Amino acid sequence: MESSRKIIIAIDGYSSSGKSTMARQLASAIGYRYIDSGAMYRAVTLWAMRHNLVAPGVDPQVQAIVAALPEIHIDFLVDGPRQLTTLNGEVVESEIRSLEVSNCVSPIAAIPEVRHALVKMQQAMGESKGIVMDGRDIGTVVFPEAEMKVFCDASAERRAERRYKELLEKGAEVTFDEVLENVVSRDHIDETRAEGPLRCAEDAVRLDNSAMTIEEQNSWLMDLYKERTGDNSPS
Ligand code: DC
Repeated sequence: MESSRKIIIAIDGYSSSGKSTMARQLASAIGYRYIDSGAMYRAVTLWAMRHNLVAPGVDPQVQAIVAALPEIHIDFLVDGPRQLTTLNGEVVESEIRSLEVSNCVSPIAAIPEVRHALVKMQQAMGESKGIVMDGRDIGTVVFPEAEMKVFCDASAERRAERRYKELLEKGAEVTFDEVLENVVSRDHIDETRAEGPLRCAEDAVRLDNSAMTIEEQNSWLMDLYKERTGDNSPS
């Protein structure tokens, strides 16, 4: 199903609030490009970890990271329905999802110069519209003019449960408490940073999906898309 009027769809929300799953599914159903902006912050973090410029519990070396930004090239490789994040040409999709990267990413994402560089890249990706992007500041900073904005939330426990399950499936050795602690601490850093803090745009539709199944979320999002574009075709 592809509507002729292309729009920009911004999906923001808390970590592990299920926004990527529904954003990816909607993009594929309507023939839009999907961009996971969090993957870009994760890729910069991985680069910094590999260069010993940040580590779990150790503050990032901001100046060195900022100076290196021109050398950090992030892109997405399309592999069927999947988008694989690349860092200087190397596919780093699974590495950027590790708990180590999750534990280091928030301080990196709070560096204003890192945000400016990534926001610029994200805006260029949305130039010809027809894009679904998820993140924390998409509806507020990256695309304040987006025609459709959603803000996702769910309880911290529910979100940690989802993330814990995902990590276990990937064979990671983590405890539920570690994951919960990471979720709560990232929420705090994301909400309180000076630059592009996580907040709901005034014109965003809020969705608390704590008690929703993935199918229910997907169909809720599709209905909203149809309402915004005046598309009446059946899903
Ligand atoms: O969505 P995620 O958990 O993969 O995002 C990883 C981190 O990147 C998260 O802690 C906050 C940050 N982030 C951000 O600051 N702005 C965005 N637009 C997307 C993610």
